[in-house]
Formats: sequence, C-alpha cells, structure tokens
Amino acid sequence: MVIKNVFVIGAGTMGNGIAQVSAQAGYSVTMSDVKDEFIQRGMAAIGKSLDRGVRKGTMQESEKTEIISRIKTTLDMNDAKDADLVIEAAPEVIDLKKNIFKQLDEICKADAILATNTSSLPVGEIAAATQRPEKVIGMHFMNPVPVMKGVEVIPGRHTSGDVLEASKEYVKSIGKEPCEARDYAGFIVSRLVDALMNEAFYCVMDGNKPEEVDKAVKLCLNHPMGPLELCDLAGADIVLHGLETMYAEFGERLMPAPLLKNMVRSGDLGRKTSRGFYDYTQK
Ligand SMILES: NC(=O)c1ccc[n+]([C@@H]2O[C@H](COP(=O)([O-])OP(=O)(O)OC[C@H]3O[C@@H](n4cnc5c(N)ncnc54)[C@H](O)[C@@H]3O)[C@@H](O)[C@H]2O)c1
Repeated sequence: MVIKNVFVIGAGTMGNGIAQVSAQAGYSVTMSDVKDEFIQRGMAAIGKSLDRGVRKGTMQESEKTEIISRIKTTLDMNDAKDADLVIEAAPEVIDLKKNIFKQLDEICKADAILATNTSSLPVGEIAAATQRPEKVIGMHFMNPVPVMKGVEVIPGRHTSGDVLEASKEYVKSIGKEPCEARDYAGFIVSRLVDALMNEAFYCVMDGNKPEEVDKAVKLCLNHPMGPLELCDLAGADIVLHGLETMYAEFGERLMPAPLLKNMVRSGDLGRKTSRGFYDYTQK
C-alpha cells in the first residue's frame, strides 16, 4: 500500500496542520473545505506556521515555498478520487462524519485508506457508513499538529491489519509516533485527560485551591499545564460534553463532577467567558 496523495477534509485548526505536516514530509496534498474563505484561512495558518520555522532558522524560505507548492486546495470532494489516504478533520458531529464517509465510499478508489481525526466518536460507527469498513481507521492528531509528536491510531472492529500497518507507517513518515488505541470513547488520550480533570474538580470540591491543584500537577507530576488551567483553556462546556460521552460509555467512574455542571450552568466556562477556575477579567 503506497501512499503518495493525501486528501484532507476540513481546513480548520486540525486540517491545516495535517495538510502542512504531510506536505512537509513530501506528500502531494489536497486540502478541502466547504467555503473558499475557510480554505484561505487554512492556507494563511500554514504560511504563518512555516514562517516561524524560517524566522527560527530551521527552514529556508525556498523550502517554505516548496512545501506550499505541494498543497492544492478544492471545494469539491470528488477530487478525493485519486487519493491514497484521506484524513477527515471536519467538526465533531457524528452524522456529518458518517455522511462524509458515505460520500468518500462512492468517490475514492478501492484501496484508499479512509481516516478520521475524531477525538472521541466511535470509529466503528463511522466505518459502518461505508461498504468498506476494513479501509476505515481513526488517526487522532494532537493540537497543535506541527508540534505534537504523538498520534493515536485507532482500528475499528473491521479495520484490516494492512490498513493499520500502513497508517502507522504514514504517521512515522511525517516524523511522528503512532500510539495504537482501542475503539472506546476517548481512546487513550481524551479518556485519561478527562479522568484527570474530573478528579481535579473533586479536589476543588474537597476544599483544595485551584492554584494548588495545578501547581501540584505541574511540579510533582511534571505536566506542562495543570488540569484546571486546561479546563479553562478548552472551555468548561466542551469538557462537560466530553465527560458526558465518557459517562455514557464507562458509567459511574467517569461521571462529571457536580462542580463542573454548576460552573457550566452559571456561565463560568473559563477564558472564553473571562471566568472559570481563575479570573481572566484583568488579563
Ligand atoms: N481542535 C483540537 O484541539 C482537536 C484536537 C484533536 C482532534 N480534533 C478533532 O478534529 C476534528 C476537526 O476539529 P477542528 O478543531 O479542526 O475543527 P474546525 O472547526 O477548526 O475545522 C473544521 C473545518 O471543517 C470544515 N468542514 C465542515 N464540513 C465539511 C465538509 N463536508 N467537507 C470539508 N470540510 C468541511 C469546516 O468548514 C471547518 O473549516 C474534530 O473531529 C475534532 O474533534 C480537534
């Protein structure tokens, strides 16, 4: 299974990062979206990211030009017909993703690998929207894509061994490390980070100060960011949504802490509302 042409669906935060790292590794890339303005925004983000490399001296201006020349853009999903690997990075909505995969099933050549960058939706359910579930796999990149080294690779129940191996090889070829995860809600990364955040909420309910919880996690566990700072950054509503998915899958042990629900109901969502575990009104 030789991968040359990579087709990326969605030019947003994740899609433009995936297009960039694939082009940097020498692949011929096509990045698609539903509106030209989203494509332009995605290409601008790639240009900005590569400029940082040029400024730091890790990349020549000529290399930047060459990388960008390897990225075509389109508003037409039919252009996925020549792709060896499709990576879908559209919004986290199951019906949208199923619909995209149903279309890809009709458009793509028989041996194409169809990957989804979902953070938590079941790969098996997305695969079931196609007539070729053996070709469908989860490829969960982390944000920011050019920086983060790990990529979760998630085979569904029917994903073939060849597709799994080829997907891992692709991840290695772009300078990253595949981490194989099973197809249960949140895979490995989202599940563990949600468990950590939820327990941190209980620590605060037990009377611990948010700044002490975050300090302990950063200095004693060597995490770059505390779980409460992370919740404020991601948004309490987004975190609650994720935990509700985990609760539905795993039951009581991942039941969202009452404090989190209370904060969401009160509009204390974190940085985006200037109030969360910390006060951002002065920042
Ligand atoms: N943002 C993160 O930190 C992060 C991290 C890991 C995984 N993810 C996952 O990656 C996926 C994308 O997230 P994002 O943050 O990049 O979202 P985003 O909203 O930044 O980008 C999604 C893009 O997809 C486009 N789109 C929608 N329907 C489309 C279609 N039919 N064809 C082509 N493009 C379409 C939208 O116009 C938008 O530009 C989600 O599944 C998300 O859960 C996100």
